[in-house]
Order: sequence, then C-alpha cells, then structure tokens
Amino acid sequence: MSRTAGATGTPGATRTSGESGTASPNPSIAAGTYRVLRDPATVREVLHRPDDFSPANALTAVTPLSSASLRVLRAAGFALPPVLASNATPAHAGIRRVVAGFFTPATVAGIEPRIRALARAATGAAAGELRTNGTVDLVRAVAGEPPAMMMLEMLGLPARDVPQLKAWSRDSLELFWGWPDEDRQLHLARSAGDFYRWLRDLVRAAVAAPERNLFRSLAEHGLSTPELCSMGYFLLIAGQETTSQLIGTTLYRLLDGTSASSWHEAATSTGATAAVRGVLAGESSVPTWRRVTANPTWLDGELLPAGAEILLELTGNHDDDARPTAYSLAFGSGIHRCLGAKLAELEAAVVVQETAAALPAVALSGAAPAWTRLLSFQSPRAVLVSPR
Ligand code: HEM
Repeated sequence: MSRTAGATGTPGATRTSGESGTASPNPSIAAGTYRVLRDPATVREVLHRPDDFSPANALTAVTPLSSASLRVLRAAGFALPPVLASNATPAHAGIRRVVAGFFTPATVAGIEPRIRALARAATGAAAGELRTNGTVDLVRAVAGEPPAMMMLEMLGLPARDVPQLKAWSRDSLELFWGWPDEDRQLHLARSAGDFYRWLRDLVRAAVAAPERNLFRSLAEHGLSTPELCSMGYFLLIAGQETTSQLIGTTLYRLLDGTSASSWHEAATSTGATAAVRGVLAGESSVPTWRRVTANPTWLDGELLPAGAEILLELTGNHDDDARPTAYSLAFGSGIHRCLGAKLAELEAAVVVQETAAALPAVALSGAAPAWTRLLSFQSPRAVLVSPR
C-alpha cells in the first residue's frame, strides 16, 4: 500500500486561477475556479462521500507558484506528499489513528490546567503591558503563543522557536491559501523553505529521540522522512495558528459588542465557551475547506465531472440557529474530521476566559483592524485595547 499515491510533490502545480466570487464569504474569491457549496446538509453529504469527493486538493496552492518560487522550494527539498488531510488512499486511516493517539479525549481533558497556566502567563504579561504602555494588542499578547506551546508539548516536541514558528505559519498560510503577487510569493516561498529546513532537523532529531513523540511514532508506523515533514508542516500550522485565529476573532467580537456574550460574561467558563461557539458557527477561523470530485458523480440532482474543484462553506450558514450542531461543520465531518476540535475549543475558551478576567475594564482602541482573509483562513490581525 502506497502512502504517497496521488499528488505527491510540490503543491501548486495544477491550479489555474485563484480569485473569485459572490457565493463565498470572501468577496475576493473569483467565481469559476470553485463550485461553492453552502447548504449545511449538502456540505455534510460531500464530506461523507470521500470516494466521490476526494480531499486530494486540500493543501494545493490557491495561486499557482511561479517558477522562481518553485525553485526556492525545491532548493529546500520542500514536498508535501499526502499523509493526512490530503490523503485519499486507504493508508489514511492508520496514520490518523497514530496522530489521534496524541489527542485523545482523556489527554485533552487532562491538559486544561496547563492551558490555563500558559493563558495566565500571557494575560499577566498583557496586563503589565497595558499598565506600562496604555495599550496592548491581544492577538500578539494572548492569542499567539499558548496554542503553539500546547501543540508542541502534546506532540512530545521541544517548545522552542515559537515566535519564529508563528511567523512561518502565517507566511505559509498566505503562500498556499492567499493571492500573493510574484514578489510577495517569492518572499513567502523563502519563508516556507526556511520553515521546512527547520522542520527536517526537528523531524530527524525527534525520530532518534528516546521519548515518545509524534514523529517517532509515525516513523515506527512506516512513514518516510518527506512524509513526516509533510505531516509536520500541516500539523504545526493547522494545530495552533487556527486556534490563535479563533481566539483573536472571539476577543474582537466580544469587544465590538457583536458576540452573544458580554466581556463580563466571557470571564466565566460558560460565557467564554458560548462566545467561542458563536464564532465557530458564524465566522470560524477556517471558513471553507476544499474537495475535488474523484470521478463523475451526482450531487443534488446534478452530474459533476471528474476533477471539479469544490469549496465547502463550513461556517456562517446557520442563521439564528442556536443548536449545538450550528457549529459542528466548523471542524469538517466524516473520516477527515479535525482531530483537534475539542482541543481547539478548550484552548480558545480558556484563553478568552483568562483574558476577560485579567483585563476586566478594557475597550477597543485605534482604527478598526485589518483582517487576514485567505481562501480558508480568517482573523483580525490585531485586537488593540486600552483601559475603558
Ligand atoms: C479553531 C481551530 C481549528 C479549526 C477551525 C480546524 C478545522 C479543521 C478542518 C475544517 C479540517 C478539515 C476537516 C475535513 O476535511 O473534514 C481540519 C482537519 C484537521 N485538523 Fe483541524 N482545526 C482546528 C484546530 C486544530 C488543532 C488544534 C489540531 C491539532 C490536533 C488540528 C488537527 C487537524 C488534523 C490532524 C486534521 C486532518 C484530519 C484528517 O485528515 O484525518 N486542528 N481541521
């Protein structure tokens, strides 16, 4: 059984266009590239038919990579063979089981005190910065590092170079899910190359380490070094930057008054959880995800050709729906459903709660923030507050 069947190699080679249209939450997404599906029942059906709707395009670059960018990536040995999120082969299930072993419900429940300690350290520093400077950016000060530290610790990896990891993550998200022009793309490709080199060193050290860690477990499962790097590239970004983005949006919506919870209520576990779930239902950090038809297939009475690119809207289509299922698509569904759903929710709720508790009397300050709006990722770039 080959774990590298399918679109092995440098992503971006097959995409033709990236801009696009009105049927998407992102007005800059051009109609025509993707068939956009927004009805939650249809989205769920697609996710539950993996043989017809393949995840093989999950990590493909939205904007085709220029030859200069491809050269930079090749020089770094960069490759993303399908292992998990984009793996349409039967090998997916076994790999998923190994990764899931690091995020069992019991493990996630057990780490709450550690998340709270990380959140308190960050919010304490943010409160100090507020006292000293009269203002603080909550995205940088509290949303950024706790999820990254937690991810590395849970995977049994050294919690080092975290600010660099955050910067690499944002660059890579833009490189693969954004619309950079050629110069910007080259800059982002260099960043992705640096990240990949760092990752390869990390993978090699981890495989040789005596302690249990993700890469050693996956190497024992039979994954090659490029497959381990591909897994690391996806997981070290998706496993923490998306949670930082969720925290950023939740804090912003609490402070701009459009959350169902007040800032005061967010200082409780219930209020913070409700605020986080509201964002997951309405404007999640991962608003869309992709699939591609593996063969000609019927959907809602229409025959789709093989190779049709599908953009699934996961959030924002449950108007006035307060049921718990209103946000359940935010983490996908079916055999590729997010392995970090419980962890992300818990981390976000704890960080939001600790922030509202540590900074009880703050208000938004300065101009409205710019937002990162990529094909599948979104969040405010800063949430600047000052004393109320
Ligand atoms: C707010 C935070 C997060 C959001 C919104 C999110 C969302 C998603 C979505 C939409 C998918 C695709 C699901 C599908 O294709 O059906 C996914 C896959 C995945 N996520 Fe997350 N995620 C988040 C955080 C995390 C965290 C913290 C982890 C760490 C464990 C994680 C690990 C994964 C993995 C491993 C997959 C691939 C699973 C597979 O293909 O079998 N995610 N996530």
